[in-house]
Amino acid sequence: MLPPAKQAEVLPIQAPRPRGSVISVEDLSVAEIGEVLALAARLEAEDPLRRMNRLLKRKVALLFYESSTRTRTSFELAAKALGADTALISSQSSSIEKGESLKDTGITLKSLGAECIILRHLSSGAPYLLERATGLPVLNGGDGTHEHPSQALLDLRTMLAHLRGGLTEVHEKTLEGVTVTIVGDILHSRVARSNALLLPRLGAKVVLCGPPALLPEIATQIGPGLAIERDFEKALAASQVVMMLRIQAERLAGVHLDLEDYKSRYQANAPRMAAFAPEALLMHPGPIIRGLELTSEVADGPQSTIAEQVRHGVPIRMALLARALGADGEVAAPPVAKAAKKSPAANPRRRA
Ligand code: CP
Repeated sequence: MLPPAKQAEVLPIQAPRPRGSVISVEDLSVAEIGEVLALAARLEAEDPLRRMNRLLKRKVALLFYESSTRTRTSFELAAKALGADTALISSQSSSIEKGESLKDTGITLKSLGAECIILRHLSSGAPYLLERATGLPVLNGGDGTHEHPSQALLDLRTMLAHLRGGLTEVHEKTLEGVTVTIVGDILHSRVARSNALLLPRLGAKVVLCGPPALLPEIATQIGPGLAIERDFEKALAASQVVMMLRIQAERLAGVHLDLEDYKSRYQANAPRMAAFAPEALLMHPGPIIRGLELTSEVADGPQSTIAEQVRHGVPIRMALLARALGADGEVAAPPVAKAAKKSPAANPRRRA
């Protein structure tokens, strides 16, 4: 007789959260942010064969309910660079289409051996449900209008590379004297929220800029120390970093926006940048809409860090994965490297 089917274990609400989950930037203390940055630098410089031993044959699931190019690809490349086996599940080609719930999909992935799940979901807070349903570390790849913590961490790494010589030992004053203006569709932006929660903890002044339809006054309640400036040119003149955001047409339901008026007030174009912020870093999390929030000339110009931000995504995501799976310490040299170091006398086949 078959044993009774084992009930899926769903963690009680009060259960401790799995170590290594990062759903919000607030899951990391300032010291832990420094550890992630330092680990990213170490992993980036590590011998690729040694690095592959860190997560060799461990199983990482990428669960994507929304489109993504940067986050999905860089998490996948990061997992593979650490030696993990990856499985990509997207809502268009899985049982999600047949109505399977997030909870049941999570439990299924765990039954298949997944040890960590990267989730992108259209609903804010979905990663908490998945974490509770599976007990696995969950890395938030962007949930609704809530957060996108790995994006904020790679944005931070980009800023530190330009403004602080690539420093990784961060503290509460590391970005003192730096004003970061986040411009555009703040209301719908998980990237804005994660950066607005992260950067002031390191001493940066964060200014939010945009029209009331996309930036209601209540946005200053996202976190402490935030200010609103409606005049883009005034904000530019005070900024060392300008972070442009995409107008999220897919989330604009009910919001009236005159795009021509928006461009005339808030577009980052070459004359505006030259006149008001010729030295500032021009950032954008992507995807960019050329000709709307910024012009091609600015996107491809010398102040733009857009491609560089994408490049920082892989080491940051390697660090988050290694941390989530407890592979952030020292690792043994790979067998291949050890064999190569042996003297010819120790290897009879080579002598022959
Ligand atoms: N920045 C960002 O999240 O891009 P993708 O939607 O392509 O992942």
